[in-house]
Amino acid sequence: MRALHVHHKSWTLWTVFMVCVMSGVHSQERQGYLIAAPSVFRAGVEEAVSVTIFNAVEDTRVQLQLSVKGEIVAHSHGTVRDKGTIKIKVPSDLRGQAHLKVWGNRQLNEGGFIFHNHTTVTVDSKGTTVFIQTDKPVYKPRQKVLINVYAVTPDLRPTSEKIEAYIVDPRGSRIIHWKALKSVCCGIVNMSFPLSDQPVFGEWLVFVEMQGHTYNKSFEVQKYVMPRFELIIEPPPYIRDLNSCEQVTVKARYTFGKPVSGKLTVNMTVNGIGYYRHEVGHSVVKSMEIKGSATFRLCVKDMMPLEVTDHFRGAVNMWVTVSSVDGGQQTMFDDSTHAMSGKVLYWRSK
Ligand SMILES: *[C@@H]1O[C@H](CO)[C@@H](O)[C@H](O)[C@H]1NC(C)=O
Ligand SMILES: *[C@@H]1O[C@H](CO)[C@@H](O)[C@H](O)[C@H]1NC(C)=O
Ligand SMILES: *[C@@H]1O[C@H](CO)[C@@H](O)[C@H](O)[C@H]1NC(C)=O
Ligand SMILES: *[C@@H]1O[C@H](CO)[C@@H](O)[C@H](O)[C@H]1NC(C)=O
Repeated sequence: MRALHVHHKSWTLWTVFMVCVMSGVHSQERQGYLIAAPSVFRAGVEEAVSVTIFNAVEDTRVQLQLSVKGEIVAHSHGTVRDKGTIKIKVPSDLRGQAHLKVWGNRQLNEGGFIFHNHTTVTVDSKGTTVFIQTDKPVYKPRQKVLINVYAVTPDLRPTSEKIEAYIVDPRGSRIIHWKALKSVCCGIVNMSFPLSDQPVFGEWLVFVEMQGHTYNKSFEVQKYVMPRFELIIEPPPYIRDLNSCEQVTVKARYTFGKPVSGKLTVNMTVNGIGYYRHEVGHSVVKSMEIKGSATFRLCVKDMMPLEVTDHFRGAVNMWVTVSSVDGGQQTMFDDSTHAMSGKVLYWRSK
């Protein structure tokens, strides 16, 4: 008697029950058999039992029988020369312990090798449960996707089965494939990968293969949407002394109230209105830091289209742009400040 291992792709993922007996009864050569079956059968599933007969000279009729407390609940058969698989449909209402019997040539008048063996199998409704988690439901370009896979046995104990995992993008392309992942601790397997700066937007899938079953979990990849913020320009209501400088305050805050930090750029000029409407001023550009609010000086004389006269009437035109540190940008225009020569205003207001 010696131990033999079956190297079949799908079986490596299974906990297998193995039987091997060598006997020399019917031939000079040593004969033997090996039966491999999953240790946990799943209810309602067609489970496969693999049968190997060594030094086979003839076909062997192999029968499988599943029984519970002496009552036969499933039966199947097949023919095996040296290697084969026989399937048995596990009833869907079956749970708990069952008895699996395997015969090779039950009738003595049949050809081939004669053997008989049995084992106890557990029938479970689900088998191992695999949980796949991502650290976020939605990712943006360049973010790192963290994935945890947690597998528990039907009796809720963590398993350390080998698993494979891969990522599929919305176009169906396999982006990354991890083979033979082993749990670091307690049945948890961690994986991570970075999204590129131009990933395919939409629903991505994580696939996990374990014990011949495939599990999946989706996550979303969305375009980066700038947080919205608003600008409030507080210009002087009017300028009556064209030689004076006034203060302008700009406030920038996100819609949820937080102040915006970044860079403020203002481009301003004074354009004539009314009789002076064809007069276009010189533009003045200023740049500064903004942390929620910023203040700058507005000096009309630097922008005046004409020599300062007693009669000029115009409006300050300003374009205020704030670029936030998180990459957002807003521009606002204001032309509410009227500038007129002090004497005129004085004369008019009297
Ligand atoms: C069944 O297989 C076991 C090995 O798993 C072996 O010890 C036993 O002798 C076998 N039974 C028969 C009846 O051959
Ligand atoms: C795996 O993920 C868990 C939960 O996110 C975390 O606590 C743990 O540190 C991670 N382990 C490794 C090796 O990354
Ligand atoms: C993902 O798994 C679910 C069951 O949880 C299944 O219905 C679905 O078809 C799977 N999706 C893919 C793309 O395999
Ligand atoms: C300032 O605004 C004027 C008028 O719109 C424009 O012609 C000029 O290019 C702007 N300058 C800058 C630096 O943005």
